[in-house]
Amino acid sequence: MNTTDNKDAEANSSETQDSHVENNHVTVFDTTLRDGEQAPGFTMTVDQKIRMAAALRDLNVDVIEAGFAAASPGDEESVRRIASEIEGPRICSLSRSGDDDIRAAARALEPAAKSRLHIFLGTSPIHREAKLHMTCDEVLEAIRNSVSFARTFFDDVEFSPEDAIRTEREFLVAASEVAIEAGATTINVPDTVGYTTPDEIFDLFTHLKKTVKGMDDVVLSAHCHDDLGMAVANSISALKAGARQVEVAVNGIGERAGNCSLEEVVMAIRTRSDSLGFKTGIDTRGLYSTSQLLAALTGNPVPRNKAIVGRNAFAHEAGIHQHGVIQDPSTYEIMKPEDVGSPGTELVLGKHSGKHALKQRAAMLGAKLDGNVLPQIFYAFKNLADECGEVNDNQLLELIHQYVGVRA
Ligand code: KIV
Ligand code: ZN
Repeated sequence: MNTTDNKDAEANSSETQDSHVENNHVTVFDTTLRDGEQAPGFTMTVDQKIRMAAALRDLNVDVIEAGFAAASPGDEESVRRIASEIEGPRICSLSRSGDDDIRAAARALEPAAKSRLHIFLGTSPIHREAKLHMTCDEVLEAIRNSVSFARTFFDDVEFSPEDAIRTEREFLVAASEVAIEAGATTINVPDTVGYTTPDEIFDLFTHLKKTVKGMDDVVLSAHCHDDLGMAVANSISALKAGARQVEVAVNGIGERAGNCSLEEVVMAIRTRSDSLGFKTGIDTRGLYSTSQLLAALTGNPVPRNKAIVGRNAFAHEAGIHQHGVIQDPSTYEIMKPEDVGSPGTELVLGKHSGKHALKQRAAMLGAKLDGNVLPQIFYAFKNLADECGEVNDNQLLELIHQYVGVRA
């Protein structure tokens, strides 16, 4: 093979790779400011929503669901301001299937460079009968009318059959087909009540991909709630069955137990790209600061043991773990703290800690502990840790002073 052949081969292989990446690109649709913000205890002012939207833009999410324009004048204002001030992501508003909602969203999204309308209507028997008091035919008619009316304002229209998971399969297929015929460009399948399992959602999405006419021309999306703690696993299963959009929220906030967590699904996709083979465009280095910002704005601290962004994600107290991490962090860490923008690996000194971590922390504080002094200080440190739990740097320095004084 000559050089030209080589170049052609490289070009072909990068084309193949690009199309592979393209096929496997997952659109990240963030609903922190809509599903997340509508949950009790997470309400934000317009200015707070703008700050959060700017952080989401910096993360490089593909779509920001900025609110539900018809919900209140404040929410209409938030959607409008985000649409005019935040450049980059597509800005979306939620809407019921009525004309007034669609008009309110169209007004609010008017300044956006790229916009999307997200229409939802309940399709499950319980929603049709108990909430909407509509027959199946009436639901289909409302989907057709609202999606086609929305298309007179928007090129990009997402339709969600609310409570899709508890909807009869045949009717879900019919509802999706009507939405596609009327011009929907994304079909989002919500597990509104967080009821499904990874196997079940895989089977459902496979069925929809195979059965719904026109599905190959639109984006199939998953919107999973975490009532049974399976939102991230379910979202990944949906991707494996052909979905190419996940609806997520920072810190997993959202109705009840919340939505699929943005940071968890994005880092699962990145960390396990070997077996999953998907990609997102998220700048993961902003995950920690975005999580902290949301916690500060809403007054809801991030649980210490929260995956990816909790304080314990890269903290170790047990001696055996500390020893391993000192030798090589990958003994107990599958991600690098800097990849998620976290302050770094932390060796917490407590009653479970070992001599290696104590020696290392003392050295960082300027004290070299060797010879007989290390066992003595270690013994005193364990007694102190039994009393107070975590031993901080000041307490440790005081202890060291009692035995050796601190050398710079
Ligand atoms: O959970 C849900 O069904 C929703 C829809 C509005 C998409 O949030
Ligand atoms: Zn939801």
